[in-house]
Amino acid sequence: MNSRVQATSRQTDGPLLKVTDLKTHFRTERGLVRSVDGVSFSLERGRALGIVGESGSGKTVLSRSIMGLLPGRNTERSGSVVFEGEEIIGLSLKDRRKIWGREMSMIFQDPMTSLNPVMRVGKQITEGLKIHLGMDNENARATALRLLHDVRIPEPEKRLNQYAFELSGGMRQRVMIAIALACGPTVLFADEPTTALDVTVQAQILELIGEQRRDRNMSVILVTHDLGVVAGHTDEIAVMYGGKLVEKAPTRTLFANMKMPYTEALLRSIPNIEDPSHTRLNVIAGRPPDLVNPPKGCRFSPRCEYVQPKCIAEEPPLLTAEHADHVYACWYPVGSPVYREKRAQLDKAKKSAGMSQVGAG
Ligand SMILES: Nc1ncnc2c1ncn2[C@@H]1O[C@H](COP(=O)(O)OP(=O)(O)OP(=O)(O)O)[C@@H](O)[C@H]1O
Ligand SMILES: [Mg+2]
Repeated sequence: MNSRVQATSRQTDGPLLKVTDLKTHFRTERGLVRSVDGVSFSLERGRALGIVGESGSGKTVLSRSIMGLLPGRNTERSGSVVFEGEEIIGLSLKDRRKIWGREMSMIFQDPMTSLNPVMRVGKQITEGLKIHLGMDNENARATALRLLHDVRIPEPEKRLNQYAFELSGGMRQRVMIAIALACGPTVLFADEPTTALDVTVQAQILELIGEQRRDRNMSVILVTHDLGVVAGHTDEIAVMYGGKLVEKAPTRTLFANMKMPYTEALLRSIPNIEDPSHTRLNVIAGRPPDLVNPPKGCRFSPRCEYVQPKCIAEEPPLLTAEHADHVYACWYPVGSPVYREKRAQLDKAKKSAGMSQVGAG
């Protein structure tokens, strides 16, 4: 039997999770879709990592791939995922099941489709407790009640007997969190946990996840396309583009000193709530790369305002910035002489276009 599932010899040194050169490719009629294409990072216990990137950049596939939650057919996965000192790539379904819930769990992207519509909320929480922790009915019910209380659902006793459709969006998301927390996971993946919610509820849910992380010394991987969402709720941020990790840094460093023009463009796409005149979302011009035939060189080069011949010819490796914990994949990062020169040209062109518009009006 794999020693991981004996749960006795836990390794506490080193990172909790170490992902090395992880690749997840799907065989399709169109060809091989390289959804995750050589991602490496590590995560310490109790820390929160944000994974950000546009739609289709591979965030969900990366999270599911780490957990071993992908359908086996037509999927090619390689690389290494070491969790608490042990390799978990290649574990049998039986052994992976022992990890799900108790060691790693996930709040899925859409609570309405992830919750069972014909099963009462209470039963959806108690099932896992009975299967994974061997609790009896009474114990499982008491624990479910406490979990609903922990995630601040009003009138938790009443909710146990309700169905998902009887709850508001925010409450459903809280139920999903309760289910994910039920078996005391070491790592919680939260995949866009707040997209369907209004801004106030969104903030409450993120607060709640943070609070549970601190109380339980749990690690959190918060997946989102919105750099604004992760800003106040993570210790580190990993930026994904076209199946690759293209920048990673402690959250403060990233915001103070981002290197990738793509990260900068993601930041510009955050709507500014404080300024109602600028609430229009600035999407990044151009299309995300085709993951069957990704561009040669830097995958962002066809959309990058600062593109140079080298960017098209040669793929940049992950380089280390001023501090070793900041890596980025760009030949001409933000602030470099080439970047500054191009920025000045762009600003000048913009200014003269604005002037000629004023003249024409
Ligand atoms: N089973 C599959 N077969 C083929 N392609 C897939 C499969 N699953 C995902 N993909 C493709 O992999 C890419 C990455 O998908 P993924 O769901 O990880 O994106 P994401 O970053 O989570 O996007 P979003 O922000 O929209 O949730 C997409 O182009 C998607 O179409
Ligand atoms: Mg996704």
